[in-house]
Amino acid sequence: MLNRRRLLTIGGLAGGALVIPAVRGITPDAGPAPRQAAAPHGHGVTNAAAAVKPAVTPFSVPMPLMPEARPNARSSDTDFYSIPIQPGTADILPGLSTPVLTYGGDFLAPMIRARTGRGVRAAFRNQLEHPTNIHLHGGHTRAAHDGHPMDLIAPGATREYEYDNTQQGASLWYHDHSHHTEAEHVYRGLAGFYLIDDPAENYLGLPSGEFDVPIMLRDAQFDAKGGLVMIDPFAPSTLLANGKPQPYFQVAARKYRFRLLNAALEYTFALNLDGVTVTQVGSDGGLLSGPLTREKVTLTPGERVDIVVDFSRVPVGSQVVLSDDKGGAVLRFDVVRTARDSSDLPPVLRQMPDTRSATTEREVVLSSQISETSATGLINGKPFDPERVDFRVRRGSTEIWRIVNGDGDFGFLHNLHTHLVHFRALDRDGAPPTADDAGLKDTIAIPPGKSVRVRMTFPNRLGRYMFHCHFLAHSAIGMMAQMEVVA
Ligand code: C2O
Ligand code: CU
Repeated sequence: MLNRRRLLTIGGLAGGALVIPAVRGITPDAGPAPRQAAAPHGHGVTNAAAAVKPAVTPFSVPMPLMPEARPNARSSDTDFYSIPIQPGTADILPGLSTPVLTYGGDFLAPMIRARTGRGVRAAFRNQLEHPTNIHLHGGHTRAAHDGHPMDLIAPGATREYEYDNTQQGASLWYHDHSHHTEAEHVYRGLAGFYLIDDPAENYLGLPSGEFDVPIMLRDAQFDAKGGLVMIDPFAPSTLLANGKPQPYFQVAARKYRFRLLNAALEYTFALNLDGVTVTQVGSDGGLLSGPLTREKVTLTPGERVDIVVDFSRVPVGSQVVLSDDKGGAVLRFDVVRTARDSSDLPPVLRQMPDTRSATTEREVVLSSQISETSATGLINGKPFDPERVDFRVRRGSTEIWRIVNGDGDFGFLHNLHTHLVHFRALDRDGAPPTADDAGLKDTIAIPPGKSVRVRMTFPNRLGRYMFHCHFLAHSAIGMMAQMEVVA
């Protein structure tokens, strides 16, 4: 077995101004952090060696709300958006300004609020100096609009993506998916919420409006001037909630719905709420069949969880801290006032789609190949090849995939994200799935050396779709494959 520190040294040697992805460090519990070129496009991610622990006074800034995108036009059945992709600066750390990449100019990307049954057309204008593209993570999107890694928006060009929103309500997100550069682009800020509200779910009476609060979680590493440095697992990381380190958020003593997204490259959040009950109502693909009481919620990169927290259970004046096992306090909720609460938390949330029996079973093995000079991510023994179709899937069919983490020796954690389709976890090495696997998932964790079986029924779409590890530094170096859905 290769020594992790040794690998980190290799990463250090390989760092600097390379043009190809090179080995970065290895995280003991988070998998390899294979580093892309330190700054392949010269846009400001500096060498990780420069990472410092920024001075942050806990709970000294309010958590901002995600800004909502405004449609620039509406037709009878479609909302039209126009969003530039451009460099910008962010006020993340006190007194410092951080160069970032943005959707629309601000570090907090505009949140698109779509509605089931109503289309969205989003025109993205690429004002960066290099190609980018958009993938709607969790969307049942037509293949031509899915943001294939080779289907890019050239600098200066505009691309209109069409989303039909034929699926039930869910918390999705959109982000860059450009081949080899997705990890760095997402890390620098190219990620935003995309919520689908389903009018058919309104009768449930879940907390809504100002009491429905999306929270984007991630980590970041900084140099002394506040610039982002590419993640180094041995350097100090700063956890961010809606772009701020350890903010506070003032709440009323009533129920809230929080939609948590882990948008980090490779940081896994293991969250608890200070003994206050957390009730999970949704996961990646929308509502659960019924509420689930959770003591701890684990989110690997790309996963979402919708929770309801009832702050009327604690006295006004209380402070409740959302904490991560490894990184400590993430966010403090300050219960500052009473409020009327007409929202509800019904015992049945939705009817899950029928389980059909599978006609095909497949195995998907995630692994890494590490040499003295390079790291490659593999699926079923092969690195990603955009010219190769790995699986052919029949439209509308039901399949079972056994997803195996073949990196037991290295101790790398991976997850698997499928485009187009949501799945349900069947078992983990024969044992029942965990609470983190509940509901309809599109991203699922597989610990080193372990496996999980999932069942999925493909929607009525044709074409090529990706599946990959959502530790984006892993997919960037090859841990990605594609399926073609055929008639
Ligand atoms: Cu969120 Cu293929 O990614
Ligand atoms: Cu991985």
